[in-house]
Amino acid sequence: MDDLKFLFEPEQVAVIGASASRGKIGYSIVENLLENGYKKPIYPINPKAEKILGLTCHKSIASVGGPVDLAVISVPAKLTPQVVRECGEAKVKGVVIITAGFKEIGGEGLKLERELQKIGHQYKMRLVGPNCIGLMDTHTKINASFANGFPEKGNISFISQSGAMVIAILDWSLHAGLGFSRFISLGNKADLSEIEFIKSCAVDPNTKVILVYAEDVTDGEEFIRVCSEASKVKPIVILKSGTSVAGAQAASSHTGALAGSNQAYDTAFRQSGVLRADNMSDLFNMARAFSTQPLPGGNRVAIITNSGGPAIIATDTIEKSGLRMARFGKSTLDQLREKLPAEANIYNPIDVLGDARVDRFQFALKKAFEEDNVDSIIVIHSPIEESEADNTARAILELKDSYPHKPIFAVYMGGRIMATGKEIMAEGGIPTFTFPESAVTALEGMVRYAGFKKDNTKETALPLPQVDHDVVKATFYDVLKDRRVLLLAHESSKVLEAYGIPVNRTYLTTSVEEACSISQQIGFPVVLKVSSPRIAHKSDVGGVELGLHNRREVESAYHRIMERVGRYLPDAPIYGIEVQKLVDDGIEVIIGMSRDVQFGPMIAFGLGGIYVNLLKDVSFRLASALNNRQSIEEMISETKAYTLLKGYRGQKPADIETVIDAIYRTARLAQDFEEITELDINPLRVYSKNAISVDVKMTINLIE
Ligand code: ACO
Repeated sequence: MDDLKFLFEPEQVAVIGASASRGKIGYSIVENLLENGYKKPIYPINPKAEKILGLTCHKSIASVGGPVDLAVISVPAKLTPQVVRECGEAKVKGVVIITAGFKEIGGEGLKLERELQKIGHQYKMRLVGPNCIGLMDTHTKINASFANGFPEKGNISFISQSGAMVIAILDWSLHAGLGFSRFISLGNKADLSEIEFIKSCAVDPNTKVILVYAEDVTDGEEFIRVCSEASKVKPIVILKSGTSVAGAQAASSHTGALAGSNQAYDTAFRQSGVLRADNMSDLFNMARAFSTQPLPGGNRVAIITNSGGPAIIATDTIEKSGLRMARFGKSTLDQLREKLPAEANIYNPIDVLGDARVDRFQFALKKAFEEDNVDSIIVIHSPIEESEADNTARAILELKDSYPHKPIFAVYMGGRIMATGKEIMAEGGIPTFTFPESAVTALEGMVRYAGFKKDNTKETALPLPQVDHDVVKATFYDVLKDRRVLLLAHESSKVLEAYGIPVNRTYLTTSVEEACSISQQIGFPVVLKVSSPRIAHKSDVGGVELGLHNRREVESAYHRIMERVGRYLPDAPIYGIEVQKLVDDGIEVIIGMSRDVQFGPMIAFGLGGIYVNLLKDVSFRLASALNNRQSIEEMISETKAYTLLKGYRGQKPADIETVIDAIYRTARLAQDFEEITELDINPLRVYSKNAISVDVKMTINLIE
């Protein structure tokens, strides 16, 4: 059920701030409602006017005297709260606030916007905007906006955070002949955001594909929840702008520096089945594809062309993408060989040659449609003469109807000669492009979405791990009490151990005797390191002694460290000496965590060691998604580290099970403790049996 039906299918609409003066926004709204076929009551509200565009005016919403589903408001900002309150009193279900001058100007505007939110909340009335163009639905024929024009009827919904984008795309669509079901301008999102509208468009029977232009998302967790459900029903394509790297620059950990907010958006979109468009043309090319074509059954593409060059470009682009060139079966090859000229290429791409007339295209296309190893087709036509291009377009359309289950795209290269052919194709519902790369990008989007729908079986969540919250809480308490945010090694090792993440336990000792007896206890050889919140690079000040084999060696190493550190950094507070077991070499991987403001903890996995940021062999997932084996395995398998772990060049395979478990537990830790801002387990050394975290960097924050 559409929770926002009162916006897209209102029984009555009031326009508050309606004006009889042509050129004013209040005039355009009434005119748009009247002119685009809305047949239900329209109530212009204006305290001074008697009639507007032939409609009787009311002094206020209260004087309408009957129910009103939707009110569109275009009075100056300072009058808006009062008008919205009157709408609440009159039990209006939703208001579209066109007026600008709120949050976007800060100060007083922000205060006014908060007031609007409060009033909406008080009357349980939904708000669109403020600072928006309004909304349109071509099927219910409502144009509750001041935009100039109304889109052609179609099955694409466009939700935009930018009002200018709505106006520009609307105007372009009228020229490009692209049909829309809905246009929604979000404005400042004081109440309703992309989340509610995605939900609404997902259940709208007239919408086949949902496009979003977003600068941010309102609530990361809810966004993922809603999109994950909606994308099971129909594709969502988002162009996200304003991806700042500021967050990444501010990070101090490896993971934080690699992640950044753009990565978080990428990860969140992917996780919830949302396709991300890189630019406006990809956004609308994908829209065109989804709105007209069936979903491909797989990624195997056949190309039919009358020219070599463009086909090579298309093949190269396909090879670089997630698509594959189809390999034809024997029977198809035999038939192509028999009917096409000897000079034609019968292998994919099928080159029907420059002198090809419509019959050759038609024949090759039929064979591609009938070939089981082909999931989709791209026809590339380079100009020969206009009539041939037009005839081929008609022939393609005719054939397409007999094979409704395979998507087909056309690349009509050129301008003047190809223009009519392109129009014929567009009218017949075949996405047509001028260059092959755009066709491949649009098709790849479809294949990715089809894959998401197919894989979308629910994974069974792993059982909750046995963990000790209290130890973690107590450790964080002590760190913060000591006015620190960075944990010392013995503290982070305690936290990891409490969560069952394999770690080389670090013990803080404060005397030579204690260091010797701990060493004896954990077993030689051991490592000694100075422990001080002021010493980040311990080796640089002689604060590390490796490979100590007996009590005597530990004793003298202890004294040496104390002496050297005292000499180099006489003022640094020394908490003691850390004792660890010396661990063997192994495959070094990193498990990291950074926290995104929108989407929460994000986990990274990849090749570890000191070259992490140089190699950038890392895959990311939001911690919330890492609750099942398949997701974690998939995350690991995206990295080169996975090749090493499986046993590269005759090496024994490493203990991937322990890595999976460690990632799972790290994700759990990150979700359970919001105060952890960054975490690098680097390296986690992985052996053929078992793994161990050797170095851990964890920073925390005070949670109010
Ligand atoms: N109830 C009903 N009508 C009222 C009330 C009331 N309480 N008070 C005033 N009005 C009437 C006015 O009398 C006037 O009608 P009139 O033309 O008959 O005199 C009408 O409401 C509008 O009021 P004005 O004071 O004339 O305001 P104006 O039309 O100049 O501006 C507007 C109002 C358009 C809302 C302006 O404040 C504004 O915000 N403009 C920017 C809108 C915008 O850009 N939105 C963002 C879109 S996103 C983008 O473009 C990229």
